[in-house]
Amino acid sequence: MTTPLLPAWLAPNPRLDRDLAFGRDQQFVVNPNGIPELLAELGQCPAHKVTPLHRLPALAERLGVGEVRVKDESQRFGFGAFKALGGVLAVYNVLSGAVGDAYHSSPTFADVMAGKHREVTAKYIFTTASSGNHGRSVAAGAKLFGNRCVIFLPRFTSADKEAAIRARGAEVIRVDGDYDTAVAECRRQAEAKGWTIISDTSWEGYDAIPRSVMRGYTVLVEEVVRQWPDAPTHVFVQAGVGGLAAAVIGYLWAVLPQRPVFIVVEPVSADCWFQSNLAGKPTLASGNADTAMGGLACREISPVTWPVIGLAADWFMTIEEDEVLPARRLFARPLGDDPAIVSGPSGCAGLAGLTRICTEAAAFEALGLDRNARVLLINSEGDLGEPLSD
Ligand SMILES: Cc1ncc(COP(=O)(O)O)c(C=O)c1O
Repeated sequence: MTTPLLPAWLAPNPRLDRDLAFGRDQQFVVNPNGIPELLAELGQCPAHKVTPLHRLPALAERLGVGEVRVKDESQRFGFGAFKALGGVLAVYNVLSGAVGDAYHSSPTFADVMAGKHREVTAKYIFTTASSGNHGRSVAAGAKLFGNRCVIFLPRFTSADKEAAIRARGAEVIRVDGDYDTAVAECRRQAEAKGWTIISDTSWEGYDAIPRSVMRGYTVLVEEVVRQWPDAPTHVFVQAGVGGLAAAVIGYLWAVLPQRPVFIVVEPVSADCWFQSNLAGKPTLASGNADTAMGGLACREISPVTWPVIGLAADWFMTIEEDEVLPARRLFARPLGDDPAIVSGPSGCAGLAGLTRICTEAAAFEALGLDRNARVLLINSEGDLGEPLSD
């Protein structure tokens, strides 16, 4: 049998073993235990609402698949992106851990918010580097619990995103460089000043907080599991450093009886996962990460996520810049009676990936897509100050 020639922008995972069970190495990255309880606790919070999982039957018909459903994170907490789940929770985890160390008791979210243990928590100054959304989430967490916060932004982050971070009371430091330069500067200053970094990406010797950020993201995945009893057969997930992809892949792998086919989607200039997959180890992106998809503009993966994404993503693919607008438009002005969805450039990347696959017969077939396929997409952000021009 001859394998049809695949396009250069699509690569299978050579390490893939679909019989590999979700084990300790994976549980270290994404621990499924206690997530339903976490969701229940969030349910007590007045700002929390489960985000919708939309059905797009007309799009599914057009693309030749059975179903397309979209988890719509543009409606998360009135915040506009899934990132709200990560930073806030990670800030809480640091503060509740500090109270636990001091008093051997575990305070609730409400206790910390009410400032019950200010004598322990007040001294924490939080910081992170961000292309925008994660910084806003950390700023929101620090504000919620009454802590000072300093966010490092790369040169290209929009003025609107900066304003949204400042509106949450954080100080902003602009770095003359890209996201990875902002990470380096944040690490340097945090170390010198004793600030606590709430990073969504990991590095050698620093992974506990990125893991707690990913734990926050798993809440959206648990919601999907409840909203879609049949479960998806295919999941397109966009990646920056890989935190979202690890939460989605790890959690679904752990809890579903049948592991879906996972496709990791990246901008071609920020293809750090695509290149790492080819190299078999964490590797830099081939481009300079100059992309309209700001949330995905990363040149380096989060290495702690390797045992999940590196072993269980089935496919890695890239998309071009000129595929973003059509995908945003397709969400905004849907086919037939499909619901309209507001997305941002990074939010629609999964859809851009799916439509790209559907234009190449060999790719479509290689992924096992057909009229029985149930495809999950994640609209990871709404319109956060980058409106559609027409
Ligand atoms: C809207 C949006 N989607 C996807 C991502 C990618 O998430 P990760 O960096 O965890 O892969 C980000 C990251 O900032 C984002 O802001």
